[in-house]
Amino acid sequence: ASTSIDRLEGKEFQIIAHKGASGLAPENTMAAFQKALDLGVDQIELDVRHTKDEEIIVFHDQRLDRVARDTLGNPVTGDVHDYTLEEIKQFDVGSWYDSHYSDQRIPTLKEVLDFINGQVTVLIEIKHMDHPHYDDFAEKLVEVVMSEDDGESWIILQSYEPEYLDIVHELDSLIQTKALIIGEDSAPLIAFYVETRIHMGRAKESNRMKAINPQWETLSPRRVFQMHAKGYQVHAYPVNTREDMIKMLNAGVDGIITDYPNVAIQLRNEI
Ligand code: G3P
Ligand code: CA
Repeated sequence: ASTSIDRLEGKEFQIIAHKGASGLAPENTMAAFQKALDLGVDQIELDVRHTKDEEIIVFHDQRLDRVARDTLGNPVTGDVHDYTLEEIKQFDVGSWYDSHYSDQRIPTLKEVLDFINGQVTVLIEIKHMDHPHYDDFAEKLVEVVMSEDDGESWIILQSYEPEYLDIVHELDSLIQTKALIIGEDSAPLIAFYVETRIHMGRAKESNRMKAINPQWETLSPRRVFQMHAKGYQVHAYPVNTREDMIKMLNAGVDGIITDYPNVAIQLRNEI
């Protein structure tokens, strides 16, 4: 697709901060969420997992060592699911990015949702739901989301695992869901989601799966056209350079999921 902005004048698109503004502050921390809000994004994406004592936390990896440091500054070993919330709150998840952020801790989902409080849409990615130590993860997730004021209007759940979305939908049909697609040839998956949409069509209009968020490298103008023709909005991820953002917008996407929402905001201001 074209890398010129000539045809983009006035184009409206969603700007979605991936793990908060994760190119500008440590991912999935309050600092990254604050930065995204300050920039004026439309949506904030984050990932959820759970602690050993069944608290839902905002964290991307299964393992802690990439971003978590102990009080001595050493990487923390093991899986996030094997520590209690109290233990997890000791870990510094900011220093790996920059020593300035050494006060950043892994937030609970509740802390983040209370903080954002409907100012922007929140896109929650369910990484893991079937951990053997936690059968009630879906129930707890739905409870946390629906305990927010008007939660169903500004919180959306997404996953690569369609059955996770079905489970959530069965627990509370008001919750909005969105599919993630990975892989070069997504045609069979698109067919699957179309069927899911028909299935979900039995529920209220607001509950239908309205968007697909594919990896941007898999998208072409033709593929975006096909998804639009099937009734989906298309949000590409992770689009991190101005050139790639322009390419995706020219391909017709409705939104950009990015680590650098500052670049997307700048682009929006120019077109
Ligand atoms: O929104 C899509 C994207 O967040 C999925 O990939 O690994 O960054 O969570 P990942
Ligand atoms: Ca994610």
